[in-house]
Amino acid sequence: MLTVGVVSLDTKNSAALLAMLQQTGLVQPIPQWDLMAGDGPKTASAVPDVVLVEIGRDVKTPLEFAARLHRLNPAVCTIAISGYQEPSPDLLMQAMRAGVREFLSPPVDPMIVREMLERLVKQKGVPQAETEKLIVVGGAKGGVGTTTVSVNIAVQLARTSGKRVVLIDFGRPLGHCALLLDLESRFSFRAAVESLDRLDSHLFSGLLASHKSGVQVLAGASNADDWDRMSPASLARVVNVAQSSFDYVVVDLGCNSSSEWAPVLRLARQIILVTETNVTGLWSLERQITMFRSMGVDSSRLRLVINRWHRPDDEALQAFEKRIKLQIFERLPNDYKAVSRAVNMGAELSRGQNDQLVQKFRSIAEQLTGVHTPAAEPKRGNFLGLFSGKG
Ligand SMILES: Nc1ncnc2c1ncn2[C@@H]1O[C@H](COP(=O)(O)OP(=O)(O)O)[C@@H](O)[C@H]1O
Ligand SMILES: [Mg+2]
Repeated sequence: MLTVGVVSLDTKNSAALLAMLQQTGLVQPIPQWDLMAGDGPKTASAVPDVVLVEIGRDVKTPLEFAARLHRLNPAVCTIAISGYQEPSPDLLMQAMRAGVREFLSPPVDPMIVREMLERLVKQKGVPQAETEKLIVVGGAKGGVGTTTVSVNIAVQLARTSGKRVVLIDFGRPLGHCALLLDLESRFSFRAAVESLDRLDSHLFSGLLASHKSGVQVLAGASNADDWDRMSPASLARVVNVAQSSFDYVVVDLGCNSSSEWAPVLRLARQIILVTETNVTGLWSLERQITMFRSMGVDSSRLRLVINRWHRPDDEALQAFEKRIKLQIFERLPNDYKAVSRAVNMGAELSRGQNDQLVQKFRSIAEQLTGVHTPAAEPKRGNFLGLFSGKG
């Protein structure tokens, strides 16, 4: 991840800039400097990769600060934001002398800043795994098990990797993730979008519900009207704030996948597509894959999961794999008892269940992260029947 610093004479503005930066999904939160107190890095290595300098009525103080950082470390990428005036040629000249590389005028679109940062990430050769944490789970159609898969992958990711995992529910019209995990949530993605002007990782963490597995959940819609005026571009900014403070972000996209969701889909390191083996499911999935490809999503990011799989399905599935030129990633058995018990009775009662499904979810989590936990690990009826907090 890139490190970033924010410089402004106005603490309210600098908090908004920090939030905007976190919404690019490519930076780590770091402290802001108080110019009045003479704060700031003292050595070259303490200078972050990117510095955002807000130029207000006082032009001189922030530019002098920028120049000082540039002298300490000429590799710093300084972006100036001029809130009060169209930058005059004179101001541009002064900024250039202070090492400013880009000049932006508010309101600053985080996605434009993201593009700048993406170029920087490439130049610096930051490993991809560090910047891409998003796993999107989408369904060929409703009812194929998208939410079941999302929730269980999130739980197994938290268990097998021990990393911080957040599950975001974009199921439409209603979201069921919190319900499946037996969590009460006071906020949904809607609250996050409504506070986008100041949504940083701190505010974001206050909107989450915590599951005992360690998974944090940003709940979905509890009323279909929650989707009113929600744009996928705003939701992508929420996802990015999640990426800036979690190791893995799992999104239950339901069967929303359409090209309108490109701002979210293009952030994903993997897109898991869930279907059942029936004519309507496979047909819908094929249409979706065609759409993803036409949007420029690389096939290497797609992972096909067949839910409620039975051995006799394999003949049809082989033909399907050939037609879409994509291998099936995982087959999940039909286990009505385990799944419905987990849903109806809550985690504790699910212990001792047949854990074949759980093993499958664990295996998916391991393959997604490349982290392998020895098979000997928790044997005790880790059923988790799916969602249990007990391992
Ligand atoms: N592998 C499975 N075996 C048995 N039942 C399942 C399985 N996967 C999902 N289900 C059940 O199917 C129903 C739909 O699952 P859900 O995850 O809500 O689908 P979606 O999110 O695609 O609408 C739920 O009742 C769920 O418990
Ligand atoms: Mg669902």
